Amino acid sequence: MTLYTLITGASSGIGKAIAADRAKSGEHLVLVARSGEKLEAFASELRQAHGVDVQVCAQDLSESGAPKQVFRFCEERAIAVDRLVNCAGFSVTGNFERMPEEELVRMSMVNMVSVATLTRLFLPSMLQRRQGAVVNIASLGGFQGVPGMACYSATKSFVVTLTEALAGELTGTGVRVFAICPGFIDNDQFYNRAGHDRSRIITPVSSPEVVIRAVRRGFAGNSTLILPTGFDSMMRFTQRFVPRKMVVWLAGLFAGAQEKR
Ligand SMILES: NC(=O)c1ccc[n+]([C@@H]2O[C@H](COP(=O)([O-])OP(=O)(O)OC[C@H]3O[C@@H](n4cnc5c(N)ncnc54)[C@H](OP(=O)(O)O)[C@@H]3O)[C@@H](O)[C@H]2O)c1
Repeated sequence: MTLYTLITGASSGIGKAIAADRAKSGEHLVLVARSGEKLEAFASELRQAHGVDVQVCAQDLSESGAPKQVFRFCEERAIAVDRLVNCAGFSVTGNFERMPEEELVRMSMVNMVSVATLTRLFLPSMLQRRQGAVVNIASLGGFQGVPGMACYSATKSFVVTLTEALAGELTGTGVRVFAICPGFIDNDQFYNRAGHDRSRIITPVSSPEVVIRAVRRGFAGNSTLILPTGFDSMMRFTQRFVPRKMVVWLAGLFAGAQEKR
């Protein structure tokens, strides 16, 4: 049986970088995102460069039936998903009362529901094989509410909590789950989609490479929540000594995503 790594959000940014790194390591891939043409072009690059099989499954994960379609796509091709990387996600910045309601629903579907549903669908076969891993791309924003990114930070808190609980459930099964929790990453597509003026961010913005290294660390070790940089670890650690209201205020200040009232 040939094992595959399935990566959502593989058409750009962090997901694309993870896919390139996994292909370089010799893993066969299933790439998921909405942009089918971009995925096909990227898939043929990866096949040529690394001699791995790369399948493309174009789906809009904000649609409730999409995770099932992804699962069926794999079933029909007898693709055994050994590693599931839930990376698709987006942010919308600004004050919450101005956030379009449809965006709120779409973000909840992509950032939370698709993560949980894909995990639910692919986990049983991993458990049967007693091997496999689920990698969730969360965010440093998932450790507290971030004013100006209220819905986004809440969706990432969901991912952090789901990952921690599942890691507990999966102990001793041979199947791992871990989450990568990056701070801001250098990727204009993400900020443009979010309407986030990145010049207002006052914390370091790291390269996608730090996330790649964190994913490798995740596979090699046994941590559940992985903070890619020393700065990310320091931000999380110092939260213990600062009143919660101050933690949230600082998160808003650092992100620079809140609008003046
Ligand atoms: N950039 C950062 O600063 C940062 C920091 C921490 C965590 N993260 C997280 O990292 C992940 C990747 O972000 P990124 O920076 O790489 O952003 P990005 O370049 O905008 O990539 C987002 C990916 O998600 C896919 N996607 C978005 N909506 C989708 C939908 N409805 N259905 C299917 N796929 C969809 C996009 O593909 P299509 O448009 O082709 O569908 C794209 O491949 C996200 O979960 C994000 O929250 C990012």
